[in-house]
Amino acid sequence: MNKRIYCGDFKDGNLGQSVRLNGWVETNRDHGGVIFLDVRDRSGVIQVVAHPDKVDVHALAHSLRQQDVVEVFGTVIARSDETINSHLKTGAVEVVIDRLVCINRSKTPPFPIDDHCNTGEQHRLEYRYLDLRRPVMQRNMMLRHKVTHAARHYLDQQGFLEVETPILNKSTPEGARDYLVPSRIHTGSFYALPQSPQLFKQLLMVAGMDRYYQIARCFRDEDLRADRQPEFTQVDLEMSFVCQDEVMALAEGLIGAMFKAGMDVTLNTPFPRISYHEAMDKYGLDRPDVRFALEHVDITDLMREVDFKVFREPAEKGGLVKVLRIPGGATLSRKKIDDYTKFVGIYGAKGLAWIKVNQSANLPSGLQSPIVKFLPESILSRLLDRCDAKDGDILFFGAGERNVVNDALGYLRVRIAQDLGLIAKDQQSFVWVVDFPMFEWNAEEKRMQALHHPFTAPDPSALDQLETTPLAINSQAYDLVWNGTEIGGGSIRIHDSEIQNRVFTALGIDAEEAQEKFGFLLDALQYGAPPHGGLAFGLDRVLALMTNAESIRDVIAFPKTQRAADTMCDAPAEVADRQWQALGLRKRHKLTE
Ligand code: AMO
Ligand code: AMP
Repeated sequence: MNKRIYCGDFKDGNLGQSVRLNGWVETNRDHGGVIFLDVRDRSGVIQVVAHPDKVDVHALAHSLRQQDVVEVFGTVIARSDETINSHLKTGAVEVVIDRLVCINRSKTPPFPIDDHCNTGEQHRLEYRYLDLRRPVMQRNMMLRHKVTHAARHYLDQQGFLEVETPILNKSTPEGARDYLVPSRIHTGSFYALPQSPQLFKQLLMVAGMDRYYQIARCFRDEDLRADRQPEFTQVDLEMSFVCQDEVMALAEGLIGAMFKAGMDVTLNTPFPRISYHEAMDKYGLDRPDVRFALEHVDITDLMREVDFKVFREPAEKGGLVKVLRIPGGATLSRKKIDDYTKFVGIYGAKGLAWIKVNQSANLPSGLQSPIVKFLPESILSRLLDRCDAKDGDILFFGAGERNVVNDALGYLRVRIAQDLGLIAKDQQSFVWVVDFPMFEWNAEEKRMQALHHPFTAPDPSALDQLETTPLAINSQAYDLVWNGTEIGGGSIRIHDSEIQNRVFTALGIDAEEAQEKFGFLLDALQYGAPPHGGLAFGLDRVLALMTNAESIRDVIAFPKTQRAADTMCDAPAEVADRQWQALGLRKRHKLTE
């Protein structure tokens, strides 16, 4: 049997060789007797030629249609100068067919198997095996392999052990809803699929494994967005006897290795750091895109002095009033401003006041705005100073509850930067967000919750405030943000069962509940638990950013839709009555509407 050569690997060195190749017919062109087939496999495409003097070969070649799968035996020859295709890696050679086998015919595919296909995603997902045959998707899958391999290699070199942790689990809280699996043997009990391997990796540190990693599947039943999937993959790691800086340095090395493999780019490390509070003040989001400026300006104090209720009330009642200054933005049309007003509405903002600064020397007539009439001249002047406003700028205002204003102006900042083309195409920005608060207040449920997870260690110098002013304590957590997307996060963990108990208490988890839910962890912490910390990168998000994909679905072989379904296999699906019975479950009749 001739040696198989991958379609994309043909080169001058193969000239004269008798070869075998396998692949799918991409195009079939009949040039007055001579038939040219483009045959593709995952490595690329090669032109093969059927001459009329080989009658059988020619007849079969003539009958081949798009996506038929073939085996070709032939001889590699040089293309004549005028037929060389310099756009193609293999464009200098072609294979003259000696023997041709049509291994399997293909029905006409439901959409073109090429990079230009603009079929709706729903259709692509239904025929994912064909979608994945498209070159762009094959490149994505190969990139995924390369990057994952590089992560494994790097961590192996750093002395990490790859350990698998269970999928059928007890709940590990990461802030999302669990996927549950009913147990047949323990009727009425459920396993939870892991939201992350968090507790197991900590237990592995107690077990003395010292350095652990896993390319880990995680499951979270949460509202889906373009950068979220119900099941996704983390590059998950944990280390013993380390401090925050050591984990961050290791993570920089790891993401550097993944980048080198995936994009052939060497990253500049260490990455800059920004505190959570600074990120919120300047950018309104805890995952700031720092590729462009457009920093927020806090004017809450100034607005306590005005009569304009829309601004004064939040300023006086613990809310926030902020400005987003857009240099040169006075040219924005009314329609654009209306668009932005609608946009901030998505985040709960009740309006979007604005001031166009036409002539700052001339107050108030040099300002164009629906709100200038409500603000005294002295305030306007201090406001312009504070924002460093120049003639030709527009100022957008957000006033209200802190979260709403930060979200609204945070996302508006990004939207406007995109609209104005302020983000250079190949610009990359990595930034660590550090000094997160340990807890946040959940106003709806009127209780404190962990900003990361409840196993995150508090700042050791603030431990005595855990019971008195918990909301003022920082944790030893860190998130890595790339171009405004959180691609990873982690922390130093609590390794002392007493502190863990105090944190549970602060979170309103009483001793009994703590024992029931996390007794195994509290026990383990009492058997010589070493100090430890770690982090997890969201592999799918990293790959989506590397490939510039619109959604993380494009870098996952078989993703779920926005409604958490697999439309190709029809999952989730109903199950037979006997399965309900075996699980000890009973169907409820649907409530009538
Ligand atoms: P966290 O919950 O921050 O931390 O998750 C780590 C990273 O995983 C990615 N990610 C997701 N990617 C796709 N779809 C999702 N639904 C999704 N949710 C999260 C993000 C995120 O930064 N156990 C901790 C890590 C640790 O403390 O070591 C954890 O899971 O990129
Ligand atoms: P109103 O007095 O409600 O007509 O609002 C006057 C201006 O303030 C309009 O331009 C509104 O878009 C804007 N506005 C109203 N509520 C807010 C808010 N919470 N934050 C920012 N601007 C607002």
